[in-house]
Amino acid sequence: MIDTTLPLTDIHRHLDGNIRAQTILDLGRQHNLTLPASSLEALIPHVQVTSNEPDLVSFLSKLDWGVKVLADLDACRRVAYENIEDAAHNGLHYVELRFSPGYMAMTHQLPVEGVVEAVIAGVREGCRDFNVEARLIGIMSRTFGETACLRELDALLAHRDGITALDLAGDELGFPGSLFLSHFNRARDAGLRITVHAGEAAGPESIWQAIRELGAERIGHGVKAVEDAALMEFLTKQRIGVESCLTSNIQTSTVPSLAQHPLKTFLEHGVLASINTDDPAVQGIDIQHEYHVAAPAAGLTPAQIRQAQINGLEIAFLSEAEKAALR
Ligand code: HPA
Ligand code: ZN
Repeated sequence: MIDTTLPLTDIHRHLDGNIRAQTILDLGRQHNLTLPASSLEALIPHVQVTSNEPDLVSFLSKLDWGVKVLADLDACRRVAYENIEDAAHNGLHYVELRFSPGYMAMTHQLPVEGVVEAVIAGVREGCRDFNVEARLIGIMSRTFGETACLRELDALLAHRDGITALDLAGDELGFPGSLFLSHFNRARDAGLRITVHAGEAAGPESIWQAIRELGAERIGHGVKAVEDAALMEFLTKQRIGVESCLTSNIQTSTVPSLAQHPLKTFLEHGVLASINTDDPAVQGIDIQHEYHVAAPAAGLTPAQIRQAQINGLEIAFLSEAEKAALR
């Protein structure tokens, strides 16, 4: 259960994986775009996971319709704003939203820097209107290669004040972290915090690489860490945070069932693991579902669920003073 006396956080949520189906319809109509369906009911199977996907890359293709309707910068601002509205409606006190500006810009060839600006503006307006605390994490989509990631990084660094951290997402097997060393060196030099999707599609070596070579302070998913005892100990001792996303890991076939999810083992080993959504609109879930349905199904005791909730704020990309203000 969610402890209502503690702040509720979601520190692993893709805003470009959390675009409302109704907004996809609205933007499609507004910009005269051809969509696979013209009613909400008929559109859902195209934009939401309805049964588990065979792998991460198939799962990620479910995000495509959401970004295909981003026909101008105002559409980008709108989806960012609505993400904050949804976070407020879901009872979140603090959310870290991540986004890939190159992916959002891709279909309609929007200026990547303009997308970053629009997302920052939408989140700021949302935080003001809905009384939510938020930070933004810029994503480099590894699936599109090193040069495209460099364009994303340049755009993010041009708006450094509005961006808290850098992440690497997308096809982990096809595009290993070793391709992006210079990108992360630049980001760290600019003072960005670092989290990396690792140990989701690839093995524990990908997590070691993210920590040692990319400078990751937190790991997205990290499920494969359980295969490496030395890594588990390292995560605990070095206080490397783990952003767990239970339902996502089932829908991408990363983990065969919730009962076999390693989150419980992480918590037993004292790893600072937290509960998060990933791509809630695409997954058809919300943070309540992850705490009330998925976490018990993953075998977590109420005390472990509470610990995961505490960890979410503990490993948030905030100063100690900012965390204290939320407690
Ligand atoms: N992994 C990698 N990239 C992503 C994910 C994920 O789970 N969700 C959205 N982009
Ligand atoms: Zn993710």
